[in-house]
Amino acid sequence: MDRVEGAAALDGLVDRVRGAVRALPLGDGRDALHGRWLGHPLHPLMVQVPIGTWVSAAVLDLLPGQRRAAHALVGVGLAAVAPAAIAGWVDWAELQRRQMRVGLMHAAVNITAVGLYAGSFTARMRGRPVLGKALGFAGLLTVSVGGAIGGHLAYRQASGANHAEAVPQLVEPGWHPIGAVADFPVGEAVRRHVDDVPVLVVRESGEQVHVLAESCSHMGGPLSEGTVVDGCVRCPWHGSVFRLADGWNVRGPATAPQPVFDTRVTNGRVEARLATPAPEHPVETSRHAA
Ligand code: FES
Repeated sequence: MDRVEGAAALDGLVDRVRGAVRALPLGDGRDALHGRWLGHPLHPLMVQVPIGTWVSAAVLDLLPGQRRAAHALVGVGLAAVAPAAIAGWVDWAELQRRQMRVGLMHAAVNITAVGLYAGSFTARMRGRPVLGKALGFAGLLTVSVGGAIGGHLAYRQASGANHAEAVPQLVEPGWHPIGAVADFPVGEAVRRHVDDVPVLVVRESGEQVHVLAESCSHMGGPLSEGTVVDGCVRCPWHGSVFRLADGWNVRGPATAPQPVFDTRVTNGRVEARLATPAPEHPVETSRHAA
């Protein structure tokens, strides 16, 4: 998988496919497919249907008298592929290059699996159950490999993870000074640190100052290099839009909101503290304490 991540030879294909996916006229449906409404990516949830039905079909194929039921399950799985695949493609088109190379391989293996299941369905329909079962088992093996590659993409490469999740664990509770009010020109994005955690600071007017975690929850993009407009900041990497007042992800591909800080001005100096409740201690800390 490390070799696939570094396979620059795939980049021409990556660019063409990404251009095609981004050109799809999906409108607001694109955010729905990302899973912004759900709070995390939709694709892993949607693949449960084809995988579940195909595993079930394989079990039934091993039992006597279940031919028609297995055939139906293979068909249901095939019908569920398209929405799951579209959700996956729109997520894929907003990844980093190394992730996209692996994602392309994930898709290629899964397309092969779908081809095998389509062959299995057709063979069963034509009264060739032995061939249908054989193609079904081959499809299950292939989709399992595709799932393993997807696991690498999701967990090793953190595609779809909330890249701002650690912030509440890293910032000590309480107020932290971040600079004089005059250091923050109205309407401009400024990068500062709170407890060594980079934050985005935007003074909206007078002493009204907004502070969000700097690293975008989508892929860690630098929000201080983004565009501030209409009370929101737009990430420079993939265009997620976060509301400055509360960190809400107004537009995807980010599916998680941005950690936000309360602010106050004391003697002309801006202070910030995490707006969210103090998190539980990380597991590592608890273990040491025990
Ligand atoms: S890093 Fe992708 S939208 Fe911010």
